[in-house]
Amino acid sequence: MSEISHKWLNGLPKIELHLHIEGTLEPELLFKLAKRNSIQLPFNSIDEVKKAYKFSNLQDFLDIYYQGAKVLLHKQDFYDLTWAYLLKCKEQNVVHVEPFFDPQTHTSRGVPFETVVNGISEALSDAKEKLGITSRLIMCFLRHLNEESAIEALKSSEQFTDVIYGVGLDSAEMGNPPEKFQNVFNMAKNMGYKLVAHAGEEGPASYIWSCLDILNVQRIDHGIRAIDDPDLMLRLIETQMPLTVCPLSNVKLRVFDSMKNHTILDMLDLGLCVTVNSDDPSYFGGYMTENFLALDDSLGLSKDQASRLIKNSIDASFAEEGRKQELFNLLNSYITNQ
Ligand code: ADE
Ligand code: ZN
Repeated sequence: MSEISHKWLNGLPKIELHLHIEGTLEPELLFKLAKRNSIQLPFNSIDEVKKAYKFSNLQDFLDIYYQGAKVLLHKQDFYDLTWAYLLKCKEQNVVHVEPFFDPQTHTSRGVPFETVVNGISEALSDAKEKLGITSRLIMCFLRHLNEESAIEALKSSEQFTDVIYGVGLDSAEMGNPPEKFQNVFNMAKNMGYKLVAHAGEEGPASYIWSCLDILNVQRIDHGIRAIDDPDLMLRLIETQMPLTVCPLSNVKLRVFDSMKNHTILDMLDLGLCVTVNSDDPSYFGGYMTENFLALDDSLGLSKDQASRLIKNSIDASFAEEGRKQELFNLLNSYITNQ
């Protein structure tokens, strides 16, 4: 019998550090935007869409995810997408978020860079004012494209350094090692951006080493393949390098064949700075509360483990020091009083 209830997990103050805003596009909004923008979808109903969300690997998912993103054309579309996610955060007591967006997915279809950034950042700003949710926006480069294209995206971001806080690296990992993006990450660092990158999701532990030593990242997104490499595990523990782990995503994309075999809690208990996140919640079956619930259902999560996971997220976040203190206070008073 678990010591944790759905109500306790939902009310627990949570922080999300690995979330692709395009991955929050729910089938209902997909249809609404397709209609609004006169875009033909290859699906006839919401049921058909949901049935298509069965993936055998990352590429399977990415094909459907890039296809869904085609309904996003106007600033209002990006605003509506982001606002819907933020309302979900409010419902689940997610109090600080650091969402990713993929500008190249949109600029390659002729959508201006500023349309994307303005729509997302206005929703984030409204969320701070109206919902009390703070945020840091992170722009990801698509690793299946070349470095020149990433440099072009970086240059487009120059006018938006007040709303974009960091850069990341996502999309198809295998065959696209971090080294391919050494120059653009160096340029981004010189522009003052925080640096993160997906590594060790499907790719090998060696990609995590490269992110640390060549790209100089401050967080690793996923990173679960670190468990294959004892020297890397020691390095991650010693440096408390954060890993933004996404349990439901890992099972949906067959990185683990079952949640029962997920290693996040072993990594937590070994002293790694692992965190829980939802990645692409519309496609993977749940937001933050559902990710914690899935861990509890399959692995048994103690209240102490849950609060250590949140503490790691606060430590790993790019929130300013004062806000981090507020987040720690929120967590501590919840743990003490609930
Ligand atoms: N883009 C959106 N979700 C992703 C994931 N899980 N891995 C790599 N790229 C992504
Ligand atoms: Zn991701």
